[in-house]
Amino acid sequence: MTAQKIDGNALSQKLRADVTTRTATLKAKGITPGLAVVLVGENPASQVYVRNKVKACQDSGLHSVLDKHPDTLSEVALLARIDALNHDASIHGILVQLPLPPHIDSQKVIEAISPAKDVDGFHIASAGALMTGMPGFWPCTPYGCMKMLESIGYNLKGKHAVVIGRSNIVGKPMALMLLQKNATVTICHSATPDLKAMTLQADVIVAAVGKRNVLTADMVKPGAVVIDVGMNRNEEGKLCGDVDFVGVEKVAGYITPVPGGVGPMTITMLLVNTLEAAERV
Ligand code: GUN
Repeated sequence: MTAQKIDGNALSQKLRADVTTRTATLKAKGITPGLAVVLVGENPASQVYVRNKVKACQDSGLHSVLDKHPDTLSEVALLARIDALNHDASIHGILVQLPLPPHIDSQKVIEAISPAKDVDGFHIASAGALMTGMPGFWPCTPYGCMKMLESIGYNLKGKHAVVIGRSNIVGKPMALMLLQKNATVTICHSATPDLKAMTLQADVIVAAVGKRNVLTADMVKPGAVVIDVGMNRNEEGKLCGDVDFVGVEKVAGYITPVPGGVGPMTITMLLVNTLEAAERV
């Protein structure tokens, strides 16, 4: 058996076409959805990410501003900038690119963003909304994973989902989203004694650790759905995920590739969240 690939590029294209249409409808009513991407410092990876986010907005007709600051920016000045963006009617979503320089308290900055504009879904109010099933913004990466499961018509009710990784950005919100769709959810992490014993029971596995080959073929139940959130480099410098793709695709029913899987979905869900922030105004 060879797993069917879930193509994140194709799904993104479809969802972004819908964003473009809805954005045009909103613009006709005089509202242009706007995203502010705040970047502090010169982190090369962050520079690429923010450029891609700004370009994706432009491609779908959203307004976007890149709010760039030197890494000498003080925490007080950054908080003042966030406050200004909170009050800027042309901005519906605010994203502060992480990591921030060490002299700035990231959590304090995130909590300064108005929850109504928290399109990254990192604010404590957004986390609380997800936990309690209230309306709010879902973090983009796990939200994208849910859209991928939806795209194959997968019904999570009564299924066992195993999430590997417990980060605030992916693992924990992922588990809550799967739970909300009535899966039985297990969260595994670095202190889990027998990961294989857990993953072998799983109908759905989400690998979100940031380490190559965390999931190998012998750890996967035949036919399981495998979602790979990892973004790593192999010895040749090629992009790869957390899953041993070559081995696991022979056992799984569905699998997301890296690149071309979860990666493009993250920015797509950022566009969706920004559009929805504008639609809620
Ligand atoms: N840094 C790495 N990934 C992300 C993300 O999804 N959002 C933000 N704000 N910063 C990041």
